[in-house]
Amino acid sequence: MGEEPRILGEALPFEEKIELKNWAGRHVGIESYFEYHRKTLENFEEFWLSVAKELDWFSPPSKAVEPGDYPYVYKWFPDGRINISYLALDRHVRSWRKNKVAYIWEGEPVDPDGRPKEVKKYTYYDLWREVNRVAYVLSRNFGLKKGDKIAIYLPMIPELPIFMLAAARLGIIFTVVFAGFTAENLATRINDLGATLLVTVDGFYRRGKVIRLKDVADRAIEKSPSIKNVIVVRRLGIDVNMVDGRDYWLDELLKGVPQNAYVEPERLESTHPLYVLYTSGTTGKPKGIIHDHGGYAVLLHATMKWVFDVRDDDIFYCTADIGWVTGHSYIVFGPLIEGLTTVFYEGVPDYPAPDRWWSMVERYGVTVFYTTPTAVRMLMRYGDEWVRKHDRSSLRLIHSVGEPINPSAWRWLFEVVGEKRCPVGSTWWMTETGGILISKAPGLALVPLKPGANGPPLPGVDADVVDEDGNPVEPGKKGFLVIKRPFPGMPAPPTGMWGDPQRYAQVYFERIKGKGYFYTGDYAVKDKDGYIWVLGRADEVLKVAGHRIGTYELESVLVSHKAVAEAAVVGIPDPVKGEVPIAYVVLKQGFEPSQQIIEELKEWVRKNYGPIAVPNNIFLVTKLPKTRSGKIMRRLVKAVATGAPLGDITTLEDEAAVDEVKKAYEEFVKAVKESRTA
Ligand code: WTA
Repeated sequence: MGEEPRILGEALPFEEKIELKNWAGRHVGIESYFEYHRKTLENFEEFWLSVAKELDWFSPPSKAVEPGDYPYVYKWFPDGRINISYLALDRHVRSWRKNKVAYIWEGEPVDPDGRPKEVKKYTYYDLWREVNRVAYVLSRNFGLKKGDKIAIYLPMIPELPIFMLAAARLGIIFTVVFAGFTAENLATRINDLGATLLVTVDGFYRRGKVIRLKDVADRAIEKSPSIKNVIVVRRLGIDVNMVDGRDYWLDELLKGVPQNAYVEPERLESTHPLYVLYTSGTTGKPKGIIHDHGGYAVLLHATMKWVFDVRDDDIFYCTADIGWVTGHSYIVFGPLIEGLTTVFYEGVPDYPAPDRWWSMVERYGVTVFYTTPTAVRMLMRYGDEWVRKHDRSSLRLIHSVGEPINPSAWRWLFEVVGEKRCPVGSTWWMTETGGILISKAPGLALVPLKPGANGPPLPGVDADVVDEDGNPVEPGKKGFLVIKRPFPGMPAPPTGMWGDPQRYAQVYFERIKGKGYFYTGDYAVKDKDGYIWVLGRADEVLKVAGHRIGTYELESVLVSHKAVAEAAVVGIPDPVKGEVPIAYVVLKQGFEPSQQIIEELKEWVRKNYGPIAVPNNIFLVTKLPKTRSGKIMRRLVKAVATGAPLGDITTLEDEAAVDEVKKAYEEFVKAVKESRTA
């Protein structure tokens, strides 16, 4: 199955068992972990029902899972009634946690002495009151109700979770669009969902600069006819364009709302859509993944306990952006369901200096820290002093997510950040799964740590590594990662993928024929102990600094430029970002290759897709290698880009004869040699 995994030059398998003294007594052999795991699968429905019963339902479910109305769409806890906003807020407000701090938020700007200028703390009661007032605005001022759709285009400010929770309270389906995305991206998502209201902000701070987000939103609205109204949060107090009768300042709307407004949370079906989050796939426009209230809440509750081992005195800090799934699940819903105190931060990790995160760990006494390998590799480069100058003795558990973690980044987290005191894990999951599925689970049992491994599947999760036909591969051999049974948190009814049940079935369930397995699109290896090591994407999706980028989407942006006839984008390994895109572009007749065009194309991508997708290199070539039927031989393009041997490639091309591939390869190598590049 192709080339061997390449994890930033460090060889697999790499194993080490580390004894963690302060976790003594919690060690179990991996065998006993799997014995427990096997029991959860044998009693699959009872097991998940028993986890579900730990939450507060308006009416508890009697059944774990049943088929939905479309192929491979499942209804989790179908007869239960629940509301995730109630779980996250109301039940704490009724308990001793009422005035416990829910969020500690830090704005990016700092004083001359480096201290944060803005810190806001919200207790559960504060948050509950704000959410109720915003829900009041959504329902009274804009007449929104259960089943309506809104889009939220906000940066990392408290209003972002507040709007998510307010929408959830009313059963309004929301989509959050990452504030780093362009107007084009925003419009595509609004239009696919059919959102009628957009929430945005005048502007915000990023790396010390002001980003005028309302201006971007305005450009998107021109292309989004479904948007009737816009709510604008005043973050900076800058002058922005406000359209009469369409755009409203949030603070002005709130003036008309009683301080103690109460909006009854809707008693929703467990399967009612909570949100749609768009993510990149191999072809076509981004896929809108639907998550529900009940199943999603159950997976988050379970993983908060198992993976993060949370306790009431924890200070939880997940460094993700709420614009991505990690922030949805582990800044907003997961920690709030558990009643934790969570830190979140507006800006970048190296502003004003590379110790911003560690200063926050010290300032708030963070205990559980969740981050990404790219950020770790970036911060490692500044040297250990930035970490060591801050007290990290509060830390007790560290996990990473988003891409494979290379052993040296793992070691740095373990030795430097965690002072060899904290277990360090790499939690595997994806937008589609809603929450973590494969990870070491210190909250259940501390199994031996292996740097770079994800770990065994979590209880009740039937994960395996299989070949093209769905048969398990031997330990140590590379295969496809699949989930063999439905799981709570999976793409939800009605259609799994918003508006496209066929594509949902095709992408996730028909890739491995006839088995009904959920196909993740990842390559993985299972080792002799049963640990899973996810190696990277098996499809045409790139992971650039942990962000998912479809090569097809990026090619479409390039081809939409007036000078471009054809484009092929592939990813090559990068020591910090894990992977970066490079592009091979054929110009239209009448356009001469030049450095200027290359720069123009980079700017085009920045404007039309966003800075994260700008190719590191653009080669202007005269031809791309294609099969007789006109399909670009992408793996061949990749082989040329990475310098991989051709030998592997021929077996991988389904459509082309070996000679044809060789010829195309040679011609392409020649074209690349003659190309002009940046
Ligand atoms: C990759 C992010 C290795 C994987 C939550 C997956 C990982 C994709 C890990 C999903 C990990 C995520 N080790 N690879 N711990 N976590 N991935 O949708 O390729 O942005 O398919 O969700 O990230 O990316 P997404």
